[in-house]
Amino acid sequence: MSERLAEGSASFHTDEQVPAATAAPGLRAEEPESRVRPGPPLWLLLELTYRCPLHCVFCYNPTDFATTGPELGTDDWIRVLREARALGAVQLGLSGGEPLARDDLETIVAEAHTLGFYINLITSGIGLTEARIAALKQAGLDHIQLSFQDSSRELNDFLSSTRTFELKSKVAALIRKYDYPMVLNVVLHRLNIDHVGEILELAEQMGAQYVELANTQYYGWAWLNRDRLLPSREQLRRAEETLERFRAKVGQKMKIFFVVPDYFETRPKACMNGLGSVFLTVTPDGTALPCHAARMLPGLILPNVRATSVKAVWYDSPGFNHFRGDAWMKEPCRSCPEKTKDFGGCRCQAYLLTGDAANADPVCDLSPHHHLVTEAVATAARTIAAGASKPRVEEQVLVFRDHRLSIPVTVAPAKS
Ligand code: FES
Repeated sequence: MSERLAEGSASFHTDEQVPAATAAPGLRAEEPESRVRPGPPLWLLLELTYRCPLHCVFCYNPTDFATTGPELGTDDWIRVLREARALGAVQLGLSGGEPLARDDLETIVAEAHTLGFYINLITSGIGLTEARIAALKQAGLDHIQLSFQDSSRELNDFLSSTRTFELKSKVAALIRKYDYPMVLNVVLHRLNIDHVGEILELAEQMGAQYVELANTQYYGWAWLNRDRLLPSREQLRRAEETLERFRAKVGQKMKIFFVVPDYFETRPKACMNGLGSVFLTVTPDGTALPCHAARMLPGLILPNVRATSVKAVWYDSPGFNHFRGDAWMKEPCRSCPEKTKDFGGCRCQAYLLTGDAANADPVCDLSPHHHLVTEAVATAARTIAAGASKPRVEEQVLVFRDHRLSIPVTVAPAKS
């Protein structure tokens, strides 16, 4: 298999083990006539481990990660790679947790390279020594995406609850030295969005060619902290103005991707291009997911690659078939002419906000639950205006990702 992609995207979460599903609202028994035969899983994301030295307040990992089963071994990951590539997968993301926590990462990369994947390592940089980056280069790693939390040491270290700012700067230098494109990712939220100018200056100093400024998506640990992290519309407007000035200054030298937070839109994003369409995630214990956050959706029967082939996972499992097509949709999505464009938005967001994954994503202003989003935005504006957005204050109330706090997420019942 020699097909390789020239450039990776900068961005980029057992039937036998899961008890019989108690159908949650909106999750009906599988309806065979609703099944839609998908194309291949073009994008494969392997979350190799939930182990991570950082404790980020916006981490998208499931809040109950410490209760999941043991990690897959090297042979299992290699089997997954072979089966997925045989199905047609071409883009490979290696993430976590921190994928560098696996000491077989180089072996996994070497196999993926032999199979012809375009391989993107998504990392905090912690553990990326010169010896390891040299070994990963030798193994065939194509691309490294390095995350930063902020332009200042103080906030970077606060948000991750570690002292890692200097270390990340050294890793950035190593990435350049080993001739990788310099790709930085910074997750934006209330506490750092006012630093967009400084973040971009730092990226320029580091020689970044690509910068992804990704506003926080509110799943996992970020969901627990949403009311402390959601920025105001005014903050967002200022950040976009700063961004445009910077773009005008640097021109083509740096490509900047700015992902607008969903909550400020009136139409939802086509999350995952529709579940079960192109993305396949395998979590550390082998549970396969149609999106990185789908583990929390109650009633979704998820396969595990320990017992099920990737082919059966993709084409035959209830967990991957459930949200294909539009038979699962409720109104207003079901009769909406835009449903083929946005697929009703994000299932995980619909579940977290309304308690029913089959509802329209409340980001959509046609949703009867849209007020849940506008109220959250209004609350953020009021809180910020009241001056409660400083880290020292937030420190009292933010929930940091930590295995000792790892519990299932709770969903507030929607007010309609
Ligand atoms: Fe799961 Fe959007 S994150 S569907």
